[in-house]
Amino acid sequence: MSKLVVSGGKSLEGRVMISGAKNAVLPIIAASLLTGERVRLDEAPDLIDVEHMCRIIQAFGGKVERCGTQLDIEVAEIQSCEAPYEVVDQLRASIFVMGPLLARNGRVRINHPGGCAIGSRPINLHIKGLEALGAQVEMDQGFLDVKAKRLVGARIFLDFPSVGATENIMMAASAAQGVTTIENVAMEPEIVDLANFINELGGKVRGAGTSVIQVEGVTNFHGARHTVIPDRIEAGSYLLLAAATGGDVFVENVISAHLQPLLAKMAEAGIAFREEDDGIRVMSSGKFRAVDIKTQVHPGFPTDLQAIFLAWMTRAAGMSVVVETIFENRFMHVDELRRMGAEIRVEGRNAIIQGKPRLFGANVTATDLRAGAAMILAALMAEGVSEIYGVQHIDRGYENIVAKITALGGKISRLPVAAE
Ligand code: UD1
Repeated sequence: MSKLVVSGGKSLEGRVMISGAKNAVLPIIAASLLTGERVRLDEAPDLIDVEHMCRIIQAFGGKVERCGTQLDIEVAEIQSCEAPYEVVDQLRASIFVMGPLLARNGRVRINHPGGCAIGSRPINLHIKGLEALGAQVEMDQGFLDVKAKRLVGARIFLDFPSVGATENIMMAASAAQGVTTIENVAMEPEIVDLANFINELGGKVRGAGTSVIQVEGVTNFHGARHTVIPDRIEAGSYLLLAAATGGDVFVENVISAHLQPLLAKMAEAGIAFREEDDGIRVMSSGKFRAVDIKTQVHPGFPTDLQAIFLAWMTRAAGMSVVVETIFENRFMHVDELRRMGAEIRVEGRNAIIQGKPRLFGANVTATDLRAGAAMILAALMAEGVSEIYGVQHIDRGYENIVAKITALGGKISRLPVAAE
């Protein structure tokens, strides 16, 4: 167990290199189950969530080797179709193995990943899609037992453009007999990266990045080498850290098209930035206006940047309203920010933030991954020292965060917390 100790008041300056996208690499690792040949992933971030996904692949009989940011995966033979309970319990994204393992093996047993702090997070759309392809899904002592003698292409309409359901169905459909059309799908860049990867394995996925995806099932998948896209949420987090601290930071390895909703809001708040070939330079005076945001599916404002953006607004000039439309309980960070002197009122899915000239260091807890980034941003803006607990959540999604912020001149360190 560890905590982060942050001294606020320092402007961040310099360059920071963004890692490969967590939310792209997780389904891509799952998709490696489609082939018996070796897959090499470049720019695979070294994160707890990625480690957990690899453990699931190993439990199925796969071999996984990491060398720096390169990940080699080979699942020559499926030796088990049951995902380890204790790992699935910690990683909601483990549900991504359902589609590809079902396609390869005809059966998968996995415990329901359950809810988490930000909402109940059902998986009905994943199940509906797999059933439409011909799978039988049964609940057996808390496990989902999913079977299919063969999967057959179908027309599937998603009631909500769920990222995970789009990915799961796309993977299963890749090996189904005939053509599958999935309508009202998610359009996130990570969906496009997964579709590209499936196609590199020999699959036939068309339309990823639009609201309709068409998948022609194939029988043979082969090995491939793939470079994971940069993490737009990590990039957005560093852009906001720079903006919040009055910094001058070049955020490197960014696809700026993926960040347009955030950049538009930063411009509205009065932050100067320059988009360059391989990155974005932010030049902030430390003064910014309050602006409103409403989270939406891509290409709207991403829910994964809501917490950190809200934290930023606690020191803006004026009042802002943050509306969360994707998850029903994603304001857990608000209570923690109040400990630092922030003035925020929550009414249902709206948070109303009255910007204040200063925040004060305090002991706070990262209640989930993105709330953790919000705590770091607030602590860097605050006067005095803050201690951030719940660091295990932050380690799920931010690679080398202490080293990266330290290299930018931020005062942050990781210290052990004595076990009780
Ligand atoms: C993914 C991301 C997560 C991001 C989220 C929304 C990964 C590993 N995680 O999560 O970081 O916050 O997209 O951009 O990529 N829903 C249902 N039924 C379902 C599935 C989802 O009702 O079967 C609901 C959820 O409860 C939620 C909404 O749809 O309210 C969005 O969820 P979804 O897009 O599926 O998010 P995830 O794939 O879980």
